[in-house]
Amino acid sequence: MNLNINKAREETPGCENVLHFNNAGSSLMPQVVLDSMVGYLRLEAMMGGYEAAGKTESLETVYDRVAELLNCHRDEVALIENATRAWDMAFYGVRFRPGDRILTDQAAYASSYIAFLQAQQRFGVEITAVSNDPHGQIDINDLRHQLDDRVKLIAITHMPTNGGLVNPAAEVGKVAREAGVLYLLDACQTAGQLPLDVEAIGCDMLSATGRKFLRGPRGTGFLYVRREVLDLLEPPFLDLHAAKWTARDEYELLPNARRFENWERNFAGIVGLETAVSYALNWGLDNIWQRVQGLAGQLRQQLNAIPGVTTHDLGSVKGGIVTFTVDGVDAAYIKEKLAAQKINVTTSSIFSTRLDMEARGLPMLVRASVHYYNSETEIARFCKAVENIIE
Ligand SMILES: Cc1ncc(COP(=O)(O)O)c(C=O)c1O
Repeated sequence: MNLNINKAREETPGCENVLHFNNAGSSLMPQVVLDSMVGYLRLEAMMGGYEAAGKTESLETVYDRVAELLNCHRDEVALIENATRAWDMAFYGVRFRPGDRILTDQAAYASSYIAFLQAQQRFGVEITAVSNDPHGQIDINDLRHQLDDRVKLIAITHMPTNGGLVNPAAEVGKVAREAGVLYLLDACQTAGQLPLDVEAIGCDMLSATGRKFLRGPRGTGFLYVRREVLDLLEPPFLDLHAAKWTARDEYELLPNARRFENWERNFAGIVGLETAVSYALNWGLDNIWQRVQGLAGQLRQQLNAIPGVTTHDLGSVKGGIVTFTVDGVDAAYIKEKLAAQKINVTTSSIFSTRLDMEARGLPMLVRASVHYYNSETEIARFCKAVENIIE
């Protein structure tokens, strides 16, 4: 189905102000998301924070919306302030023992790999980054080959921060299920960009953020934990929301994924997240995904046609993140020159994805990430601007 792009743009106030190709950083919010948060903040100001929360249904329906987005049960959803902490709550909950192995991918995000290294120092676990296949995505044969009875966790990135690669998450899930190994998927860049179905993927845990392709506010995120693995994990932190102090020397964990949550959180942000997820569901994730792939494909093609410009996205399936270099010109310089024209991009360095950047010998990249509300006209304007900068 064709999306009504004019409508999407009219409903996005930022479109009038900037050419925003930094959706992988933080997307432009639709007006409804903004309104829902402002409305909630006003309610807090007028009646009190606790009282406002008690009167706001979306603080509960948000679990239904996220469950719908992921095809899971609302009890399998925890709301957490960002994707890293959501991922952490699952990862640090795994009961590692010396000699356990973690299998990851070459596109691993820095925060995850740093956590692996900490677990290596703390418990003596072994980290193995599975090889890429010829398309640059995780090699399923090597994944199978790496499996042994010491593997405690498979933790991979669905789409990396430094390119449009879509890892074959469901094929990894099939291997994980056959082997009976815990599987944690970092879906930070794919939530809101493509359809996510935890049953089809076969992951046990999945982490994501609200601010990127879901177009929600900053400081929001969520964790999915499959019911069957809930008790295999030990929440690394507990408070009086995650657990109940039932007797002087006893506590009971919440029976659902909310045992990974905090009591105090950004309620206005959660209201905004509920609106953003509903908004994405209304557009339809299949429609969004089709549009994003089309736009990103055009952007890659037009960038590659500019002399001296090379795009670097891997994978047989590619999404909305487009990374490129310009011969002899610094990525930071390009970003700055574009910003002066109200064109938003960012840069991506080795400090976010060391394994991949080292293996490919890549310098800092310019990252231009498109979303469905971006337009073909913007792509043409963007490429013209890049061309002018390097002339
Ligand atoms: C692949 C990937 N994983 C995890 C994260 C971390 O997300 P957050 O900043 O919400 O913690 C990012 C952020 O850019 C990311 O790109």
